[in-house]
Amino acid sequence: MNILLLGSGGRENAFAWKIAQSKHCDQLFIAPGNGGTANYGKNVNLKATDFEAIGEFALKNQVNMLVVGPEEPLVKGIHDYFLADEKLKHIPVIGPQQTGAQLEGSKDFSKDFMQRHKIPTAAYRSFTKETLEEGLNYLDSQKLPIVLKADGLAAGKGVLICETLADAKTELKAMLADAKFGEASQKVVIEEFLSGIELSVFVLTDGNSYKILPEAKDYKRIGEGDTGLNTGGMGSVSPVSFAKGDFLKKVEERIVIPTVEGLKKDGIPYKGFIFIGLMNVNGEPYVIEYNVRMGDPETESVLLRIESDLVELFQGVAEENLAEKEIKLSDKTAVTVMLVAGGYPGDYEKGKVMSGMENVRDSLVFHAGTEADNGVIKTNGGRVIAVTSLQDNLFDAVQCAIADAGRIYYDGRYFRSDIGADLLKLD
Ligand code: AMP
Ligand code: GLY
Repeated sequence: MNILLLGSGGRENAFAWKIAQSKHCDQLFIAPGNGGTANYGKNVNLKATDFEAIGEFALKNQVNMLVVGPEEPLVKGIHDYFLADEKLKHIPVIGPQQTGAQLEGSKDFSKDFMQRHKIPTAAYRSFTKETLEEGLNYLDSQKLPIVLKADGLAAGKGVLICETLADAKTELKAMLADAKFGEASQKVVIEEFLSGIELSVFVLTDGNSYKILPEAKDYKRIGEGDTGLNTGGMGSVSPVSFAKGDFLKKVEERIVIPTVEGLKKDGIPYKGFIFIGLMNVNGEPYVIEYNVRMGDPETESVLLRIESDLVELFQGVAEENLAEKEIKLSDKTAVTVMLVAGGYPGDYEKGKVMSGMENVRDSLVFHAGTEADNGVIKTNGGRVIAVTSLQDNLFDAVQCAIADAGRIYYDGRYFRSDIGADLLKLD
């Protein structure tokens, strides 16, 4: 079959790598793709949110399946758009419809969902401009630090952890009264701070049954030792050593099953990935957030540990017989190190010539922000390249990924050389 994959990051490069291996994939298109996805399919110069152009392309090129990488097209309703069109509705979409995508698109919706279905999460209340005074009073009664979350999508910047009451009040006012995050902060969730270790669990569901994919840990801060500004993600590790039998059983029983059942009870159809951001608080899992897509750079590690044909699993989602499909996972360890542009996550330059990729020995190289300029690969984003190594154990995977990251060069190159170091200490 012909498959159209939407997106342009490292996540999509990893998806393209995996989908292209499927015996069910004849032709793979990636819109818009990047310098690396072109190795596995045909890049198509379309924006992932231009539904009309995507629909037209799908018809013209006999696309049989649409796989959506990022959240934006899902939250804006690409699945609904396909379903509403007589000529497109036969094309299965991997990714939820707009109602389900609200699990990521609205923090208030997702908190309400968790409360309704008794899924463990931090205590919270939501406020709007009209209830700003109540919100300020509520802050007076809360412990510090306290977490403020813009309700809508804010390009990963909408979560603030405030250490002082004065700071929390200033930020709440800025979000509600001064639209600090635009429309996204018309509503704000104020939530209890949870202290623990974070990890992400990924689920693929057809709306009835589900498969739990390998879990992963993301390294969000720019600096070594988890210091400095937040980024889109500087690396990932899968499996996560502390997420063993007992903890994962709690995650499945208390979170995964009630989530899938809750969607069903609420009459929300859901076909796609659920990315559950969790906090392990003294061995008890709490949901920090839902995303309705896979993570980046988690996908780069997770997909290396899925031995099954991914397209076959997608067919199970599309045909609602996922329960009959088998998922085979590798017990090896995958480590991803993200190479970023100098200055990221602040201002950074693009267009730096890249070299050394041919010297990588024990890893896969997934492009995130690159472009091919007359055959020369140049940097074209903040996160530039993901280097992923799959080895027998965490130590070896860390060593290989770090060594290979060092073999790629461009002006201003930076990567964290401590990805996985915290987990090595725990082992
Ligand atoms: P999000 O944008 O929802 O992924 O949140 C960004 C980051 O803020 C998360 O990855 C956590 O590190 C942190 N965070 C969010 N909510 C909480 C919470 N209730 N307690 C502690 N940290 C949190
Ligand atoms: N790495 C975090 C995310 O994809 O949201």
